Formats: sequence, structure tokens, C-alpha cells
Amino acid sequence: MRNENFIERLRDTKIYDPVGDYKMVTEHAHIIDRMYYYGKQNERYLKEAEFITQIITEESDGKTYIDAGCGTGIHLKLLRERGFEVSGFDLRQQMVDVARKRNPNVTIIQGDMKDFPFDRRVHGISAMYGAINYIDTEEGFRKTLRGFSEHLTNNGVAIVDTRYQPNLDEEVRIWTTDSWVLAKRWIKCDGEMDSVYRVFYAIPDEGVMEMEDHRQYFQDPYWIAESMEKEGFARTKVFDSYDKDKEFDPLSGSHRSVVVGYKE
Ligand SMILES: C[S@@+](CC[C@H](N)C(=O)[O-])C[C@H]1O[C@@H](n2cnc3c(N)ncnc32)[C@H](O)[C@@H]1O
Repeated sequence: MRNENFIERLRDTKIYDPVGDYKMVTEHAHIIDRMYYYGKQNERYLKEAEFITQIITEESDGKTYIDAGCGTGIHLKLLRERGFEVSGFDLRQQMVDVARKRNPNVTIIQGDMKDFPFDRRVHGISAMYGAINYIDTEEGFRKTLRGFSEHLTNNGVAIVDTRYQPNLDEEVRIWTTDSWVLAKRWIKCDGEMDSVYRVFYAIPDEGVMEMEDHRQYFQDPYWIAESMEKEGFARTKVFDSYDKDKEFDPLSGSHRSVVVGYKE
């Protein structure tokens, strides 16, 4: 099947009808890494790393950090370069393998954030780029937040990003290079799932062409903030787009809300 057919199917999707099986983070973790850390995305990662650095160092008296759902380990690398002692984990062993290659000598393990897999306290914990939105039950979500709180030092902070659902843009977005094509479309959902994103990617030289749906739950930043306060955080703040000087405004049209939970 040619790329155009996939992109047409992506554009025509009106309702959620699951396809694919998260091969992006399993079978193709090593190639998707190239797409993650590409072009403008690099700037996004740098901005996020600066935000995490500032939030942790302003609140806390130390620089230990765990990235939950660390993916291919880009934040771990950037935080390491900023003087942090870092560790990470991800649900998918294949992502862990790529993250370890990027971060030799760093402890990166396979684990589920619902059952926090480290047994120590750190100054900062993050779950970046919607990693927390894969948790599909309220109980699991609360347990995750409790785990974050229990593994932070006094004055530690948790940083969780999430889409803001009402402003979700349903356009198809396409990125292409000489060696791959990536297309993505977010679709709003009713019911237990907040949204789903359908992604198509092709790497012709490697014979890869996939389309799959990524189901996203519990995205409302204010619900997340409230849940954090119930699960051990003293206070919370919702920022916009990893800008430390900008509080999130739900009427602004932005869809990049970042919830920070502060321990005391
Ligand atoms: C969109 S990727 C983001 C990766 C990385 N945080 C980044 O910003 O590049 C989401 C990641 O969350 C991981 N993930 C999903 N559910 C998880 C869970 N319950 N525990 C740990 N990791 C999880 C996935 O395997 C995937 O690597």
C-alpha cells in the first residue's frame, strides 16, 4: 500500500476504531527514536529540559531525578548534561534498550509507573510527553501519583504534562525526510478515553509501514492537579507549554498544559 492511502485513511477517521498494537514503542523503538528527536522537536526537548532544571533547582536542595516513561531517554541525557544524577524507567523494554544506549552508565529499568519501580527518594520526577496518559483507570492514575509523591524528598517536585482536550486540533500533520514519513492525527473521544491519536509511519528502506492508535486517558490538567493534592502533594500549579513564567489559561487555545506538584 502506498503512503498516500494511509494518509487518506488517517484523514477520514471520524471515530475511534482501534488499529495496531503499539509497535512504535516495541518493535520499532530504535527507529522511532529518530523521529522523536528530529528538527523542531529538538528545541522542544531542550525547552522541557530547561523547565525541569529550573523547577527542581528552585524548589529543592539537590539534583537527583527520575524520568517515568522515559521513552528513548532524551530527557535523561539532557538532565545529565545539566548536572543531575538521573535514573529512568519505561514500560517497554525496547524503549529501555534505546534509552540505555543513549545514556551509558545510567540506571534505566523496565517498570510500570503504577507500581513505582525504584526504592528511593529523589528531588524531581517527571512523566513527559503524555507518558501518564496511557494509564487507563482512575485507580491506576491515583496510584501513580501516590507513587510519585512517596518517592520525592521534602520540597521535591513532580512534573506531568498532558494535552488539554477541549482545544485538541484534529488536523492531520505530516513530517517527511529522505528516509521516513510520519503522520499523526488526534481525535477527540467521548467516554472513558479522552482522545486517541492515530499515527502512520513508514521507513521504506527498512520495509516498515505501520498505522496504529494510541489511546489517551485522564488528560484534564485540573483534575490531575486536584488528584495530586489528594495523593500527597502540598500544592500544584498548571503551566503552559513548559514556560515557567506562564500559567496555563484554558481559554488561550493552548493544548500544552504542564502540571507541577510540590511536596513540602
Ligand atoms: C509518547 S512516549 C514519551 C517518551 C518520553 N517521555 C519522551 O518525552 O520522549 C510515552 C512513553 O510512555 C511509556 N509508558 C506508557 N505507559 C507506561 C507506564 N504505565 N509505565 C511506564 N511507562 C509507560 C511508553 O512505553 C512510551 O515510551
